[in-house]
Parts: sequence; structure tokens; C-alpha cells
Amino acid sequence: MTSPNTQTNPDLWQQAARTRKATALAHPNIAFIKYWGNENDALRLPANSSLSMNLGGLYTITTVIFDDSLSHDELHINRQPVTGPALDRVTASLNLIRAEAGLQIPARIESESNFPVGSGIASSAAAFAALSVAGAAAAGLQPDEATLSRLARRGSGSASRSVPAGYCQWLTGSDETSIATSIAPPEHWDLQDLVVVVSQEHKAVGSTGGHPLAQTSSLQAARVAGVETRLQVCREALLTRNLSAMGPVIEEDAVIMHAVMMSSHPPLYYWNAATMAIIQATQQWRAEGLEVYFTIDAGPNVHLICEAPHAGAVETATRQISGVKDILSSGPGGPARLISR
Ligand code: DP6
Repeated sequence: MTSPNTQTNPDLWQQAARTRKATALAHPNIAFIKYWGNENDALRLPANSSLSMNLGGLYTITTVIFDDSLSHDELHINRQPVTGPALDRVTASLNLIRAEAGLQIPARIESESNFPVGSGIASSAAAFAALSVAGAAAAGLQPDEATLSRLARRGSGSASRSVPAGYCQWLTGSDETSIATSIAPPEHWDLQDLVVVVSQEHKAVGSTGGHPLAQTSSLQAARVAGVETRLQVCREALLTRNLSAMGPVIEEDAVIMHAVMMSSHPPLYYWNAATMAIIQATQQWRAEGLEVYFTIDAGPNVHLICEAPHAGAVETATRQISGVKDILSSGPGGPARLISR
């Protein structure tokens, strides 16, 4: 198993420190037990622990170059210049790295992903995991995995889980202790996530805007109170590769999160008619013997989780449902890591 820390690919880390330039690759992840709501929004200290799988078929590649000829940070996403709040968020992440490294130099940041924006995959997880690894390396830091997970978390909570490999657990705690660690490598279990795209529209309220609303729902306290039990059941089922035990708890956890969203002030309704049609189809497929479960993030698109041998049958059945625009499929993925460019 590869690890993002400086011991596994020391040559790339040394080269990055010398040239003030580094490129990192990170995968997005799908949460089986969800993060929704913070104890501290500024530090992204979550209200509850969560558990996820990195999506190995999907990735973001980010290059960070510290360059003292620049007057401010410059960001390009998929070759397009980006300013405003997205650049401010990247600058805030790099400021943490600059402070730790004692650097005051602006950076040029180039980021590209192989999955479409609006596909129902939290692009911020892969983006801030890759940014943290590339930024730390280019700044000449020698961070361990926990430090990288913490840096990624400060950019986007779910990004903490994209730093370690495979199946990851992110615990509540302080700024120092709220980090993600791997509980099983990608090779542990060939689960597949089929992301069923039913809408490519930009969400009116994204995750960052949604987290502060969680506490306005009277259901959030009950959701948080039950997370530890669901997490234990999910972790145990995952470690023993027991999808029949894991599936019901991931569905329950996603539905409880959406109940919180729908009962917030103002309410967040992310589902559309096709979302509901897929939920109902999932129940029918299971009754017919096809073992597949759903989970849904902050949007209408549905993630169908099954074991790899059943992915073809699930995809064929899903394509029959009206409103399905695309399906992206992925197995478990490795850690965020430096790559040579
Ligand atoms: C519903 O990590 O995207 O996908 O910290 O504001 O960037 P920020 O939020 P983000 O929230 C993810 C919420 C979720 C559930 C999950 O991935 O655990």
C-alpha cells in the first residue's frame, strides 16, 4: 500500500522542496457514514465521525508552484482561470502551509479532474487533498499523514478522508486530533460505487452552505446521537466484507442525513423524482436477488454500492430508469500522493 507521507517517495518530496514545485493526485471519496454539521465551522471540526471509501477510478491532479514573481495566488481549474471565493478558499489553505513553512511567496495552482463538475461527486474532497499534499511538498514541509489529513480537512472536511488509502475513518476531536486514518487498504474489498447522475445542475446550496444549517433541524441531535452505533456496525461489516450487514446501515445513515437537511431552516431538498425512482428500484432489485444499496450526498444523484461482480447487472438495470443521464463507476482507491510530471 502506498502512503502519502514523505517516507514512501522521498525522491519526489526532496525534488519538490528543491524546486518549490510539486504535483499530487487525490481521489474523491463516498461516505458510508456521513459528515453533516460542524462543532466549529471555521476549523471544520465535525459534529460526528464518518467513514468512507476513496474512489480509485476518479481523480484530481493538482500542481502547486511557489513563485516569487507573482503578486498573488493564481488558480486554474481545468485550464480556466478562477478568482473570487474559490480562489480565496485555496489561498486560505495555502496560507496554513505557508505559515507552517515560514514562506510568504504566492503560488500558481493548476488543477484538473477526470470527472465532471456536477456529477454528484464531492469535487472538494479530491481537490483539497491534492492541494494539501502538493502545497506541503512544494513548501518544503515533511508532513506525516495525520498532518496532511488535518491540512486537507481545513480546506474541506471530507478531504481529510481522501488523504489516507482505501477505506477511511475521520474522527471528531480538536484541530490536532480530528484527522482521518485508513481502516482497510483498497485491496481489502472490491466494492463498486456506481454514481447515477440524474441532474447536472449546479446545487443552490452546497455542502459548505449546508453544514451550518444542520443545527437548525430538530433531528440533528438524534442523528448525531445515533452515529456512533451506525459507525460501529458499518466498520465491523466492512472489515468482515459483509455487504448484507453494511448496506442497510449506509442507507439509514444517508436517509437520516437527508431528513436533517429537509427539516432545516431553511429546508434543503436535494432529491428529485429520479432520485426517488432509483431508491425504489434498489429495493425491488434486492427483492429479486441483486444485492445493491444506495447512498446520497448533498445533491440528487445516487451512489449505488455493490460488490464488483454485480456492477454490470446493476448498471444495465439502472439504465432502464427514466431520468438517468450518466453512470460513473469506480472501485476503491489509494491515498493522496505526489506524482512526477
Ligand atoms: C454530504 O466536505 O463537501 O458529502 O467541509 O464545507 O467542504 P465542506 O463540506 P464537504 O461535506 C460533505 C458532506 C457530504 C457527506 C460526506 O461526504 O461525509
